[in-house]
Parts: sequence; structure tokens; C-alpha cells
Amino acid sequence: MILERKTESGTIFYIGNEAIGCLLQTVYGKLQLLHLGIPLFPEDAKALDASRLLGWGNDVLYEDGDPASCLDTIPLAWSENRIGDYRESSIELLSGGQAVSGDFVFYSSEILKEEEGEEDSCMPHARGTHETLKLVFRPLSSLLRDISLELRFSLFETVLVRQTLLENRSEQSVFVTKLMSSCFDLHGDFRMSTFDGGWIREMHRHDVPVTFSRIVNESTNGSSSNRHNPGFLLSAADAGEDSGEVYGFNLIWSGNHYGSAQRTATGYTRVLQGIGQEDLCYEIVPGARFETPDAVIAWSGDGYNGLSGKMHRFVNSCIVPENWRYRERPVLYNSWEGCMFSFTETKLLSLAKKAKKIGCELFVLDDGWFGARNDDHAGLGDYSVNRRKLPGGLEGLSRKVHAEGLQFGLWFEPEAVNPDSDCYRAHPDWVLSSPGNRDLYGRNELLLDLTKKEVRDYIVESVSAILDRAAVEYVKWDMNRCSPVSGNKAYDYVLGLYEVLGRIFGPRPAILLEGCASGGNRFDLGMLCFAPQIWASDDTDPIERLDIQNGLSYLYPLSTVGAHISAAPHSMTLRSTPMSTRANVSFFGAFGIEFDLDGMQAVDEAELKETITFFKKHRSTFQFGRFRRNPAENGAVCWQVTGEEETLCGLFHRLLPAGPEIEWLRVKGLEKEMRYRVESRPQLLRVKQFGGLLKHILPVRIDPEGAVLRIADHHYKMMDGQYSAVCSGAVLASGIPIHKRFSGTGYDPSMRVQGDFGSNLFTITKEQ
Ligand code: GLA
Repeated sequence: MILERKTESGTIFYIGNEAIGCLLQTVYGKLQLLHLGIPLFPEDAKALDASRLLGWGNDVLYEDGDPASCLDTIPLAWSENRIGDYRESSIELLSGGQAVSGDFVFYSSEILKEEEGEEDSCMPHARGTHETLKLVFRPLSSLLRDISLELRFSLFETVLVRQTLLENRSEQSVFVTKLMSSCFDLHGDFRMSTFDGGWIREMHRHDVPVTFSRIVNESTNGSSSNRHNPGFLLSAADAGEDSGEVYGFNLIWSGNHYGSAQRTATGYTRVLQGIGQEDLCYEIVPGARFETPDAVIAWSGDGYNGLSGKMHRFVNSCIVPENWRYRERPVLYNSWEGCMFSFTETKLLSLAKKAKKIGCELFVLDDGWFGARNDDHAGLGDYSVNRRKLPGGLEGLSRKVHAEGLQFGLWFEPEAVNPDSDCYRAHPDWVLSSPGNRDLYGRNELLLDLTKKEVRDYIVESVSAILDRAAVEYVKWDMNRCSPVSGNKAYDYVLGLYEVLGRIFGPRPAILLEGCASGGNRFDLGMLCFAPQIWASDDTDPIERLDIQNGLSYLYPLSTVGAHISAAPHSMTLRSTPMSTRANVSFFGAFGIEFDLDGMQAVDEAELKETITFFKKHRSTFQFGRFRRNPAENGAVCWQVTGEEETLCGLFHRLLPAGPEIEWLRVKGLEKEMRYRVESRPQLLRVKQFGGLLKHILPVRIDPEGAVLRIADHHYKMMDGQYSAVCSGAVLASGIPIHKRFSGTGYDPSMRVQGDFGSNLFTITKEQ
């Protein structure tokens, strides 16, 4: 519901539904924030108006003689400097070579239904039922005539979305050096959670208290970045996973971003979100307009889990392309970790056969199929198939993969070029360069300048032709380096990318697109508008993934998180983890397999088959159920998803402390009085992991390094002990002790053998 009311103190706007409430009021022509958070009533406006309670000392008054007109102390939903508000500004403009304040004042309002007004937008937007409040402001400044500032507030089922537009109707250019998508002055003390890292270490959560120094969460590498994801949270000091107030912020944008939070002496925290401002000086020529990306804001009174629930619902129903909303993702096999650049058609078909046998549904050929791409020094930019590897071309391979009963998918990295490529030799001028600087390489590649029409056309035509010719059903769209440019060029690059993605995949909605940028260097809502899933990280070690996937889960639903089982020991961490844990972690995402299936041991094959069968049975719950993070002891991680018929819970150990400490399983949100059956998924153990200890339970002595144990290890299906219990939803919420766990005082087959990196997956169903 969006309401507008004129009162003696200004015009009041209420934007609210069951999920969020926002109350705004015009004061001195500015936009005052009366409230953002829990849904309330428009009638509450008067009681919430704090504007006349403050203002004294050395403050500057906006209206001479009116002591209440001190903009520095009024909570606002849009801000400028040089008009008495000394907190961080939402806008910076240059006109006639000098920094100007618009001194924008409220001019008009309009309530729009659904998608009205978005037709010619260059940005991706959320789609779905919503209403939009459009507020137009005009400048009082004598240096800025005929410029209009538009603030949009769109109300979706679970979130509020904001966008800012600046239109130049004057005769001369205006330059934008900063234009935020959203500004809010929130009352209270907050803790800020950001999601940071780098390559193979994305999305680690970090918390800091919001104080008087400004905290900035920004990306400057051209992408939304693995350094700092654009999404962040502000929570009350007492907020936890299931209680307390939490605000979530995100941006529908894949380039440089800027977010900040800073407390002021009046007890408000200014929160800004928008595009990165470093080096930005964007010319808006007469007649043109500048659009910011959409900022997404959610609120929860039920802690982080409540907030995640709202963000997940928004992404699943309003962000991912329509054709993929709430549609289960195929189990995929990806050739990368198993083959890298070295494969033949025979090898790929052998993998495809095995992938089919264990239950995969989609076969993806990753890097190395084109040009002279035998390592990462050559070939990017070219689209001719490497006939030495694939004599029958992509069409031939695709036909054979389809004949195996699998869908066919292909990897591309269309934004980049290797200097050793036909593309670069023909068009060295297509490269994206920083003026005056020499070209710097990342993974031996340069980026193509997507701000050039001829480059965009080349990519659209080359990729589209292959997709159609080879009947491709899935694309992994990769981008493996950081940008050489900043500011305007970096902004235009992202718009160029969106145009390219729209032109290729708009007419081909059946293709499942997976985003990737060296793993998670571009995991954001902008990419998700085109790609229903994104490769979360090149790090597939399940223990590292506990942090990465946990971080993502605050803001992104599991359906969007690419998660694969790979080999152990892991290629990056050299950590050996049980197959059961690799599977249990990958279940919580868009699941797949990524290692060489040739040479797989018989027990592995059997286990993978059972694993995939289990996943398919529960796939809809995993990908679209209600997700929660639950408490767990000793650094363990507990994830829960609840679907219509069942709840699934993963309990994951990192290092298991010695001693008889009991593990507890907590399952939230079930019906208190209902009785539930809790059962652990059957898991295999490897005989070899017991090594020399086997002598304690076997009648004969076996050499722990010998052939007998090796053969037994490859063929003997040794089941881990299973856990089973029946209890009420009430007791599950507070926790049940789960037993029996092997702890060195004898072994019997009913014990669960955990050890370091051990885990269990529990199914919880109503007891009939
Ligand atoms: C990137 C991706 C990987 C893989 C390789 C191929 O690193 O993140 O998954 O596709 O490129 O070169």
C-alpha cells in the first residue's frame, strides 16, 4: 500500500505492507524519514516527527529565523551538502566546472502501478507485483536550472526498492560525481555485517559496531567483487539468528559499488547505497538522464534468519528470470576440475556416460574447446572449435551427449581476450584500456571494451550462433580478471554487459545461465536478473564452503548458489574430506559434480549414485525451502531447510574436539506439539580411514598400507551408523542430543564416525 496525505506540516507518504513500513514527510521541501522498519500506520506520522526537537548551537538554519530548520539534525531519506546537512551527501554534481549543490526541493509525486515508467531503462530491475512512489524534486540553485531529480520507492511483497534518476532538461551538460540509489537516517545503535574476502575465500561475514567513523563497504575492481559483496546488514546489538531487528541492504548492480554507515551525535545512522563513486564524473548531456541501479532494503524483527527469508523470497520470485523462478536446477557434471584444458571427445563422452550412470542430468564442457586454448595463454576471443580435441565439432559432441540422455552445456568467457588470439590480432583496438597506462594482464588476458557497439555485436553474434548451432541448454558465463578502468568507463562497461546478456539470453529463455567470475567475483542481484545461478567460488573444499555458502545464505537463496562435489584431497587446500561431507555441503545449493569420474572406485560410484538419488528426492526442499542457520557447538555449522513435507538439516564439523562432548541438533520453526521422526542420511565410511586401528576389531592383522586394505577400501561398502529418533517439535527447537558418536572407546556399527570434517544430513518428517 502506498498512501499520500497532505497535512499542515507537509505531505506524508506511507509505503508499507506486512513485511516493511516506511513513512516519509516533506519538510522545508526536503524528504524527512519518519520511520523505516516494522510495518505501522500512516497516522503514526505526527508522533514520529522528531524534526522540531533538535537544532541548536553552531548549526546552520535552512530557513533563517526558524530554529527547527536545521537539516543536520533531521533524519532524512535524501541528503545534500552545502545546505546545512554536514553528514554524508547522497549527490555531488559539477556544473560549469564547479561543484554545485542543487538544493533540490519537493515538486511533485505520483503513484505508479507495476512496471510503468521502466520501459526505456538501461538497468535490470526486479519484476513482479509492486507499486512505485515517484517523487520529483527541482533545484533551487541558480547554477542548476532545468534539472530534475527523481526518487523512486517501489514496494514489493517482502522488500522496498529504491532508485534515483537525474534528468537534464537544460541547455548545458551536468556532471555526476556521486549519485546514490538510497539514503536513510535510521535511529538506533547498530552492528554492521559485511561479506568480504577474495578469490577462493569469498563472502566471509565480518561484524563491526557502527560508530562515529564512517564504515565503507565498496568495490573498486570493476565488478561487484569477491572483496566486498554489495549486500550488507545492520542489526540491533541484541539481534541474533532468530530474534531482534535486522536491516538488509543490497544492490541490483554488478559493477563498482559504495555503501556506508555512520552514526551521528543525534543518535541516527546514515546509510547510503549506490554505485562506486571513485573517478566518477559522468556527463549528462542536454536531454539525457542518469539512472542509478536499484537498491534493495529489507527489514526483519525476527533476526538474521527472518531477514534472509525475506531476501530469499524476493530473489526467487522477483529477480531470477521468469522461466527459472522456483524451477528445480538440473544436477550437472562439469568437466573443469577433472580435465582442465586437456580432453578429447572420447574422454568427454566417457565422462558423460559415467555422469549419466550416477544420475547427472546435464553435461557441461568447461574451458578449452575453442581456438588455441590449450592453457590460459591463448584463444580467448575466438569462437572456432578446436577440431583436434573435438573432430565432430560442438554439434557432434552435443548430439552424442544428448544421445546419452543428458542436456548439453558450454563454458564461455566472452568479455575477455588473449593477445594470442585471432580476435586480438584483428582488433587490437577493441581492448578495454586505461588511458595513458600500459595494459596489465590478469590470468594472461585483457578485457574487451563492452562500451563499444561493434564489440557488443561481435559477442552477441558469436555466442548466439554457437548456442543455436550446438543446441546448448546451459551456459557458464565466466569473467576471470579485474577491470583496468574505473569511474564512467566502468559504469558504462556494466551497462554494455547487461545489453549483451539481454540480447543473447532474452530470446533464449530456456537456456539456464550460470554466472561466474573466477568463482564469486560477481555474485550479485544484477547478474541474477539474467543468470538464475552463480558459481559461488572456485573453492569447492566443503570446509571452506561452510563459510562461503553461509555468508551467501544471508542474502541469496540456495537455488542461486552453484555448489559441486569435487575431489579429495582438494586441489587448493590439500584437505581430505569424506565424500559424505562434500555431498552434504553441496546439497545446499545448485548441486553438481566436478571431478574426473574415470578411475573412480566402485564404492565412490555407488555412493555418488545414492547421493544424487537422495538429492533429487529432496531437491525442491533444498533449493526452495525456508532456510535457517541454527546454533551448533564447537565451531560446527548447522543449516536447515524446511519444505512443505519435510525439513532437512545439515550438521557440519570442522575440527572435532576430543572427548565425549555430546552433539546437539536444533531444528527451528516446527509445530510444537507435532511428533517428528529424525533420521540421518545413510553414509558410507572408507575402511582405509581406520588404518592400523583395524587390528582392534579384526581377528587378523592387516597391513594398513597393503593391498588387502586397499582392495577392501575400494570395494567394501561400510555403512556409517545411523541416527534415528522420534520427538516433538518443541524439543527439537531447544535441541536433542544426538548419539552415538565414535570417541575412541570401542567401535560398533551403530556408532556415527565423525572425526574432523565429518557431517550428517538429517531428514525430519511428521510421524504418522
Ligand atoms: C574460472 C572458473 C572456473 C573454470 C575456469 C576455466 O577460474 O571460475 O570454474 O571455469 O575459469 O578456465
